[in-house]
Amino acid sequence: MSIRKLNEHEEIEKSDQAKPKEHDLLTFLPFTEKYRPQTLDDVVGHHEIVKSLKHFVKTKSMPNLLFAGSPGIGKTTCAIALAKDLFKENFKGSFLELNASDERGIDVVRGKIKDFARMSSITNVPFKIIFLDEADALTTEAQQALRRTMEIYSSVTRFILSCNYSSKIIEPIQSRCTIFRFRSLKKEDILELVKKIKEKEGINIEENGLELLINISEGDLRKFLNVLQACSMHSKTVTRDLVEKVSGTVSLSGLERLVENINSGKYLESDELVQKYLIEYGLSAEDFIYQLYKYVIIAKIDEKKKMQFIETLGEFHYRITEGSNEQIQLKAMIAKLCLISLND
Ligand SMILES: Nc1ncnc2c1ncn2[C@@H]1O[C@H](COP(=O)(O)OP(=O)(O)OP(=O)(O)O)[C@@H](O)[C@H]1O
Ligand SMILES: [Mg+2]
Repeated sequence: MSIRKLNEHEEIEKSDQAKPKEHDLLTFLPFTEKYRPQTLDDVVGHHEIVKSLKHFVKTKSMPNLLFAGSPGIGKTTCAIALAKDLFKENFKGSFLELNASDERGIDVVRGKIKDFARMSSITNVPFKIIFLDEADALTTEAQQALRRTMEIYSSVTRFILSCNYSSKIIEPIQSRCTIFRFRSLKKEDILELVKKIKEKEGINIEENGLELLINISEGDLRKFLNVLQACSMHSKTVTRDLVEKVSGTVSLSGLERLVENINSGKYLESDELVQKYLIEYGLSAEDFIYQLYKYVIIAKIDEKKKMQFIETLGEFHYRITEGSNEQIQLKAMIAKLCLISLND
């Protein structure tokens, strides 16, 4: 977050010290910031939402908005791109962004937010925008105070709230906003962005490497870009093997081998494999169980056995998240999976 602010407010450019050239700055930026869309035209996916937002830009009128959805799919991106398209060169003076790194209590609503909200607009857009990113982190008290502020200054200020769960936003605020629900990005949306990055970075991503990247990012573009950048630092050709190493994902053949051993009830061999993978890929027990679960879902195993496996994985995952000893639970889990196979 701080890197983007530095980029936006261009504090470096203002300094008298020797200025790094723009391309140097870009080189060191994380992909997530380097490729963050600056206009709504560059946003991938969310076609219906982008269409509505473009309509707001065109008509220079909009209601208060609430963006809800899982992490890394473009909520902050869309809010900023909307404001940039709307305010253009007046963006800085007309857009106030507050995120979780700022104070989220009632004082902010009474102070910073109110002060900005009451100022009238001096541009050709009749309102300014206050963007409350990660609004689920606002205390209930602060949200209550916000209700009235939203109404009083509605002639000169619009609010955009962004959150992961809309249920964490109190009802009266939800009813003052038009809610846009952002869905996880689809494969074709990600591919659109990948094309651009491949050209700009001069990297080559092998088909099965890309497939794994998309699979592990689960529609979260931030996750996708971070793993891709880490891979591109190792090599200009991104292979499946490289993605596995960088992201700590056990190879498909590794998981196949493990499930084969479990299916044959071979406890010691299975346990040895698990210990090996944990060290080799630097995984926590929780991560490992999640990966095994994702594999079991797609593996060719008898349906009844699959159900028993999934139930077991769920149970041990829960035990670990509740704080039980990881080592013991993992060994007990392998034992139970093998016993299921032996009793089959
Ligand atoms: N739809 C999209 N089009 C293009 N790039 C995207 C899109 N969604 C996400 N990105 C990329 O992923 C990064 C993270 O996205 P963003 O900050 O908008 O996520 P978010 O939905 O606000 O997540 P969070 O809930 O964690 O705040 C952006 O910097 C951008 O590079
Ligand atoms: Mg965000």
